[in-house]
Amino acid sequence: MSLTNLAPIPELYVSSESAQKLKVEAGNLPSWDLTARQVCDLELLMNGGFFPLKGFMTEPDYDGVVADMRTASGALFPIPITLDVNEKFAEGVGPGQDVALRDQEGVILAILSVTDKWVPNKPLEAECVFGADDLAHPAVNYLHNTAGKVYLGGPITGIQQPIHYDFKARRDTPNELRAFFRKMGWRKVVAFQTRNPLHRAHQELTFRAAREAQANLLIHPVVGMTKPGDVDHFTRVRCYEAVLDKYPAATTSMSLLNLAMRMAGPREAVWHGLIRKNHGCTHMIVGRDHAGPGKNSAGKDFYDPYAAQEMFATYAAEMGIEMVDFKHMVYVQEKAQYFPANEVPAGDSILDISGTELRRRLREGIEIPEWFSFPEVVTELRKTSPQRSKQGFTVFFTGLSGSGKSTIANALMVKLMEMGGRPVTILDGDVVRKHLSSELGFSKEHRDINIRRIGYVASEITKNGGIAICAPIAPYTATRRAVREMVEAFGAFIEVHVATSVEECEKRDRKGLYKLAREGKIKEFTGISDPYEQPTTPELRLETEGTDVDYCAQQVLLKLEGMGLIAK
Ligand code: PPS
Repeated sequence: MSLTNLAPIPELYVSSESAQKLKVEAGNLPSWDLTARQVCDLELLMNGGFFPLKGFMTEPDYDGVVADMRTASGALFPIPITLDVNEKFAEGVGPGQDVALRDQEGVILAILSVTDKWVPNKPLEAECVFGADDLAHPAVNYLHNTAGKVYLGGPITGIQQPIHYDFKARRDTPNELRAFFRKMGWRKVVAFQTRNPLHRAHQELTFRAAREAQANLLIHPVVGMTKPGDVDHFTRVRCYEAVLDKYPAATTSMSLLNLAMRMAGPREAVWHGLIRKNHGCTHMIVGRDHAGPGKNSAGKDFYDPYAAQEMFATYAAEMGIEMVDFKHMVYVQEKAQYFPANEVPAGDSILDISGTELRRRLREGIEIPEWFSFPEVVTELRKTSPQRSKQGFTVFFTGLSGSGKSTIANALMVKLMEMGGRPVTILDGDVVRKHLSSELGFSKEHRDINIRRIGYVASEITKNGGIAICAPIAPYTATRRAVREMVEAFGAFIEVHVATSVEECEKRDRKGLYKLAREGKIKEFTGISDPYEQPTTPELRLETEGTDVDYCAQQVLLKLEGMGLIAK
């Protein structure tokens, strides 16, 4: 039996004395502030998780990896690990130069000795690595809209590991895991890769895999970056810890992996295999649709659900890690037990709850049955995904000055406070300009800053479970959209267009401002000398002419009720 999985793996770190010296010297180098994804990549480069890579890929390595998953020296590596930078930074550096790589707090983690600098063909990278140049794929979206235009490549000199403040005791380098397996006498270890909370089906699958491979089990969840919209890793780790109690401690362990996933399906499965091999594992579970990104922009799956297993099987021998493949696990009611979908006894009935259905049940506070998950896991999930009627949200009124936004907003606030349950904050145009934006005027630039500030505060209130009611003019569509995005990361956003016409607003002219605007005494006045872009698809449009305030506020309440945001 080969014991190579137990020997130490090369790392890219220098000794701690050299690191001290290098850190001081590197202070004078041009320095690059790593993005969150680059910090993840660098950590696994330095600790041997991406062995045999010795740094960020050079242009020939990248070309080979994109085309046929091999570096220039022929090593199998399915995902490009490149350092993307912006054009401005790239102008100032080139081959032969050293660059200090810093984390987001400015701590120097490594030095990159640049050997290559090039502008990648991103559409080609998307086609070859992810199978389609389609922005519905999260990594393709990242490639085009987040990653810099220029790539730098070259060897890395590791100075220190990225600092983590969370779950320190649960994080292990490849060598720490290898040492642990040696100490425990574990010779065969099957890894379970996951980015989701573990439910009963996963537990059954891991038990079966360990039995099949006659191996110990390593639950190896990803806590770096996963698919946007996934359950956050803090919640997941608390769920894993609850489930771990249900495994025999002598045969099973859990360790957190700071990997930035790409959701590249088959190529990603091979990448995960190499990473697990580097962490001392001998087997890896590959299930249905491994690292699948979901649907493409035409509504079809990006990858065939078993393509990842096929590709893994092709390279398993070369990687030196065996696959334990599994079909989708389903619950068979008559047997009160889980079975792989292809082994269900004929005539028996199957129960299954999809990820979408689970999210719906959490959102609406519907029961999640014991056959599906563990009560401890459901409790954790309910804490972070409370049902909709307990989540925070933002009501965003937009409309001309004098349209009635503030009056309706105030009436709504009082009604919501009468109902109780959640704190309510009003961010009225005038009030915000007094307390948050007193230095700003009414140019397009200043209006945008003002609205983004409101959006930021509303998103924080929403995140913390409160109700934010905003009532600025907010004349620009793009800025309103940006605020929507900020808020929707945490809860619902309800845009309410108070559609009072400019003629009516001018007729009311409560503050006398329209008169001054007509006389040219107030410049850039919305509706008179400055634009107002009408919302085309607001959640609600209110016609105020001939309608009283109470009725307008009622319409908003009914909308909120219809969306499940308020309940008895
Ligand atoms: S914006 O565009 O959303 O930033 O405007 P906002 O902060 O909501 O404006 C608040 C109030 O400022 C008064 N005001 C003006 N409005 C529009 N254009 C110009 N040039 C202007 N100068 C002052 C106006 O009374 C706004 O009031 P309400 O009625 O609250 O919308």
